[in-house]
Amino acid sequence: MFYTLAQKVMFQMNPELAHNLAIGSLKMTGNTPLNCFYRQQVKSAPVTCMGLTFPNPVGLAAGMDKDGESMDAFHAMGFGHIEVGTVTPRPQPGNDQPRLFRLKPAKGIINRMGFNNKGVDNLVRNLIAKKSDIMVGVNIGKNKDTPVEQGKDDYLICMEKVYQYASYIAVNISSPNTPGLRAMQYGELLDDLLGSIKHKQKELADKYGKYVPVALKIAPDLTGDEIQAIADSLINNQIDGVIATNTTLNRDAVTGLLHAEEMGGLSGKPLTDLSTQVIKQLSICLQGKIPIIGVGGINSAEDALAKFDAGSAMIQIYSGFIYQGPKLIDQIVNAYCAK
Ligand SMILES: Cc1cc2nc3c(=O)[nH]c(=O)nc-3n(C[C@H](O)[C@H](O)[C@H](O)COP(=O)(O)O)c2cc1C
Repeated sequence: MFYTLAQKVMFQMNPELAHNLAIGSLKMTGNTPLNCFYRQQVKSAPVTCMGLTFPNPVGLAAGMDKDGESMDAFHAMGFGHIEVGTVTPRPQPGNDQPRLFRLKPAKGIINRMGFNNKGVDNLVRNLIAKKSDIMVGVNIGKNKDTPVEQGKDDYLICMEKVYQYASYIAVNISSPNTPGLRAMQYGELLDDLLGSIKHKQKELADKYGKYVPVALKIAPDLTGDEIQAIADSLINNQIDGVIATNTTLNRDAVTGLLHAEEMGGLSGKPLTDLSTQVIKQLSICLQGKIPIIGVGGINSAEDALAKFDAGSAMIQIYSGFIYQGPKLIDQIVNAYCAK
């Protein structure tokens, strides 16, 4: 009820302004009695993934709370985990505005934010200040002005800084909005990146006496052979998990709609089937060796069940959360328990 009203107001505003207002209000109210407007009791439905136990299988996908400002509020809503970021070593403004568009009739979103974030040091401060015990994945990326060939260094810098505060670390090489980033999904660059990340993980596990799993986040715009190659590299490098998928460059599902031709990544309903297909193929290639966190176009409990059926151990939502509100978390957890 509250969200229906809030959404009515926010959908009259420019999308980025609405986003900033929402994150700002959640930041202010997350630890106060005012969180009663969105607080919700979600069934306990523990799930083990990447060696960690999550209170339920529904997470908030990366990009909503890039700087980890409202983690406690998302905990109050009942999320089983939140993935903050993408965060980069240095703060950066992202692309010029406008860079966020609603495709309302399709329940879709196009964004070309370009990793706008306040930098990894700021995020670490927020992780330390967090009050609730919500499981937090930290999604890391490279700065726009770091050449792709040196991109690896940015991931290692972020990893080192967030390691002791993260439940898991997500390596994002699949945003379409940082030029050249997706090149890291292939061949030598991928193997080299994953090898270095594994090496750094071992070093940090020894240093802190704590093993923090690492997951790779991939795009939906991959051929069967590319998915197979990524799966092989994940297995060879003993990566702990894979998050599938990020947004798509494909516009087939939204042809003719207002904003459909905006540059950037498309998410929400138009992405549902594409991301499920990728998860299915990935699941066949991985043969249960590495867990999949399924994300992309989950707008209902049925959509979430399809992601579990395709082979996901857990799921995440972003656009569906914008269109449906916090009740979607509860609906998915109930459907998951009933299956
Ligand atoms: C506005 C916006 C910003 C996003 N920013 C990020 C990001 O910084 N890092 C990332 O890995 N994914 C980012 N994503 C992708 C989401 O995490 C998710 O993978 C994608 O939107 C598909 O899920 P959905 O259909 O439920 O939205 C962003 C998505 C949106 C809509």
